[in-house]
Amino acid sequence: MDIFEAVDNRKTIRKFDSYIPTKDEIKRIINSARLAPSAMNTQNWKFIAIYNNEIKNKMADEILKTYDRIIPNLDDETKAYVERYKAHSTFFTKAPVIIVCVETEAKAFMNGVLEMAKFSEEEIKKMRPDSFLLSMGGAIENMLLSAYAQNLGSCWMVAPVLGVDGIKKVLNLDETDKITSVIAIGKPASDISDKRSNKKPLDEIMEIIE
Ligand SMILES: Cc1cc2nc3c(=O)[nH]c(=O)nc-3n(C[C@H](O)[C@H](O)[C@H](O)COP(=O)(O)O)c2cc1C
Repeated sequence: MDIFEAVDNRKTIRKFDSYIPTKDEIKRIINSARLAPSAMNTQNWKFIAIYNNEIKNKMADEILKTYDRIIPNLDDETKAYVERYKAHSTFFTKAPVIIVCVETEAKAFMNGVLEMAKFSEEEIKKMRPDSFLLSMGGAIENMLLSAYAQNLGSCWMVAPVLGVDGIKKVLNLDETDKITSVIAIGKPASDISDKRSNKKPLDEIMEIIE
């Protein structure tokens, strides 16, 4: 598939049919993450593909526990909104496969250099975007495109990270591991609409300085 076909036509899919992606399809997706650029080529990431529904449900339970802490403290309007948002955090239990994207521990070299050179924490924060998180983003986008190229739909999800502490226990992750996203993957359901999300016009987001 032409790269532009994938970039132009990929869209978020939140409803899947009963097809279960093969391990080869999932491996190809994770291989696309493996080949992504990363800050100083650190590759401090791991990707856990989960077919097992019991584990997916345990993860969702951990997210719901966090909502139980959030919701009682909200005003009525916010509460109603957050109740709806909940579904966007846990629908991955209905996805045939999910990939949990984990950033593993690493120290950004240049941050250490700036600390040694006595730059303040505030200055370092401004000068050093989170390059490891950015690297995760690149790897994840590669995976979404790779899924699309194999006729699979996907949804990049950050909301599940609300259940991070419990999910880390469910998945036996290390203390220092950071869950950055979950990707839901499967064949798009036949009744999903053709609608695309609105995108800002190019002129609004672009500037060319000659
Ligand atoms: C960093 C990131 C986090 C997201 N988190 C969620 C999420 O938790 N739940 C969800 O349903 N969609 C999530 N999305 C999907 C966005 O809602 C979706 O990409 C956006 O509405 C644009 O639609 P499109 O992907 O079809 O272009 C996330 C997307 C990104 C890039």
